[in-house]
Amino acid sequence: MGTRPEVIKLGPVYGELSRRPEFMPLVVATAQHRQMLDQMLPLFGMTPDLDLNIMQEGQTLGQVTCRALAGLEQAYAELKPDLVLVQGDTTTVLTGALAAFYARIPVGHVEAGLRTNNKFSPFPEESNRRLTGVLADLHFAATPLARDNLLAEGTASESIFVTGNTVIDALQMIAAHPPKLAGTPLEALLRGDRRVILVTAHRRENLGEPLRQVCRALRKIAEDFADVQVIYAIHPNPQVRAVAHEVLDGAERVALIDPPDYQYFVALMSRAYLAITDSGGVQEEAPALDLPVLVTRDTSERPEGIASGAAELVGTDPERIYHAAARLLTEAEAYRAMQQAPCPYGDGQASRRIAQALEYHFGLRPEQPEEYV
Ligand code: UD1
Repeated sequence: MGTRPEVIKLGPVYGELSRRPEFMPLVVATAQHRQMLDQMLPLFGMTPDLDLNIMQEGQTLGQVTCRALAGLEQAYAELKPDLVLVQGDTTTVLTGALAAFYARIPVGHVEAGLRTNNKFSPFPEESNRRLTGVLADLHFAATPLARDNLLAEGTASESIFVTGNTVIDALQMIAAHPPKLAGTPLEALLRGDRRVILVTAHRRENLGEPLRQVCRALRKIAEDFADVQVIYAIHPNPQVRAVAHEVLDGAERVALIDPPDYQYFVALMSRAYLAITDSGGVQEEAPALDLPVLVTRDTSERPEGIASGAAELVGTDPERIYHAAARLLTEAEAYRAMQQAPCPYGDGQASRRIAQALEYHFGLRPEQPEEYV
């Protein structure tokens, strides 16, 4: 694992495998993200068995890829795993699968089969997950739609397992033990009954002008609605931080905060009125918490939430973002419809199904794993 979402989504799988005596899960951290990885690992009881520590300021995609690939090749030679699990679509995932393929180690891909069919959106994630799919032996599709995407590409059906998304397992684990907000900087922000709009934004295809436009829309929403509090958890990427501060510094009712630990972020989502985000994970988590989401992207590999009515794709045009948010702030019926839309991403049992599929793969279990429908 290399980034924050990989830790969140593999944490419950690690826990599930640890509880089964037939498995010995080992954690290799590329640490493509340094601070955000260190922030998340302890929450799921994980300590890396090997830490490649590859992150550098201003790293290019090629540099991340080279350092991760070389480090993982060595890691596998040292640890000699029987199988490698990767999750999602980051550069760590692609290199994790490629290094395993070179060493002829089987690969399981968690959250397989997401597609926008546009190789530049999200960039580079769409191509990372397609390439990982080519290299993987076991495909853990979160939803039936993801399975259909894989089947349409000719992936063998017996190698695909529909499990639900492990992010819902993580969310349920964490939400069961809400942290105390008293004495934290969040307490002051959440005081009173202002409606909280929770924001995250970090996608590479949105860096620069698109992100500036999103920030302008946020500024106007906060200006026009006196009972709103915008809370924007800013990704540490310097290119994200610069634009957010440029447009939003000094704006009333807009708080720019560092990315909170996951349990605090979950608490924020639970309390929020609306989420505005380009994150994949938040699109999955929000419907499970009855939180309407506006997705600031032109495409989404997660159409299930849009189809169910829990999410709306609004792109990065400031007018469009503003009007979609204003509608949800003023039209109770429209808001309720989004809030009550079902969560199509999982039921909290995905890790158990993945563990069952691995037992099945290794001949430790005669019957097929259960499926998420
Ligand atoms: C990465 C993944 C993306 C995932 C996202 C989740 C790639 C190419 N991108 O995007 O798929 O959705 O993580 O957050 O795999 N930085 C820090 N501290 C940190 C993390 C990042 O300072 O803890 C800075 C570094 O300067 C780094 C920059 O952020 O150069 C970008 O990080 P990088 O991992 O290259 O890509 P992300 O945009 O974070």
